[in-house]
Amino acid sequence: MKQEIEKLEKAVLEELKKVSSTGGLKELEVKYFGRKGEFTAILKGLKDLSASEKPVLGKLANITKVKLEKAIEAQRHKLEGSALEKELDTEFFDTSIPGKTPQMGHIHPLSQVQEEVERIFSQMGFAIMDGPEIESEYYNFEGLNIPADHPARDMQDTFFIQDKDDPKHGHMVLRTHTSPVQIRTMEKYGAPLRVIIPGRVFRYEATDASHDTTFYQVEGLLLDKEISLSHLKGVMAEFLTRLFGAPVKVRFRPGYFPFVEPGLELDFSCLICNAKGCKVCKNTGWIEFMGAGMVHENVLKAGGIDSKKYQGWAFGFGLTRLVMMRHAVSDIRLLTNGDLRFIKQF
Ligand code: PHE
Repeated sequence: MKQEIEKLEKAVLEELKKVSSTGGLKELEVKYFGRKGEFTAILKGLKDLSASEKPVLGKLANITKVKLEKAIEAQRHKLEGSALEKELDTEFFDTSIPGKTPQMGHIHPLSQVQEEVERIFSQMGFAIMDGPEIESEYYNFEGLNIPADHPARDMQDTFFIQDKDDPKHGHMVLRTHTSPVQIRTMEKYGAPLRVIIPGRVFRYEATDASHDTTFYQVEGLLLDKEISLSHLKGVMAEFLTRLFGAPVKVRFRPGYFPFVEPGLELDFSCLICNAKGCKVCKNTGWIEFMGAGMVHENVLKAGGIDSKKYQGWAFGFGLTRLVMMRHAVSDIRLLTNGDLRFIKQF
């Protein structure tokens, strides 16, 4: 068998020298290394050898195989190289023509800011939650202390989904805010809780430069023992300071949302004029940023939380508006209409 291997080796190397095309090379490979190839037959025969012969001849066979494969590869390179040279000789190839720049995609400005918001809140110990965009009336309204006949329903013009009622939770709607996920999160994880919920929301709006039917919000919810609004003030000042990379002050104003009590609006100090008053802050020194408040007892109850033991606050701000402020975007529709001339700037 040893002789056989050596003979085959010589034969392959000999034939290899004569091969002049990649087609011929393929044939040679099949002849020796194909399923019915001569070298393959030897490898198959190894198993019938005696225990003393097997290791010695097995090793030789393998070494020879690797060596021949290398030789075949080298010949392939040579053949391909000369084929290319031939082509270059016969065809005109202008090496001075500039290449085509590949088109690189990048992350959408909305996602960029969302990722940044998520990163900062994660650093402060908040988990990131998600919820359905097609939501039941119950989670979107009732559970949030907004019953069907409540005038606050008019605050959010709603898209209803026809003929798709949920047997337990009523009509289905495109969620008008991310607040329904407050209840879903409480139901699922109980208290204590520290989460943010970024997501897409929908309202039946007449569109203009500052209103769109689809936009993005970030909800926040923190439940624990002995939580007060001063914690909210601290968290938001810290969040905005990290986001803008400059010290930011926040202030509260009374505000009304049925799912918080007391409810408030949070403003932050205008960074453009250093709170002195400019066009952006309408000469007030403050920018309106979000709604917030202590989570209403009825909402805690809907989420299955013992309101005697736990309390906390919730907030909701417009991620889309934040992006617009960040990049001085003058028309909200630019962010979602798919115009690449706009998107490529970020
Ligand atoms: N969901 C409210 C809105 O969309 C914002 C909000 C969230 C207010 C949480 C208070 C608490 O307008």
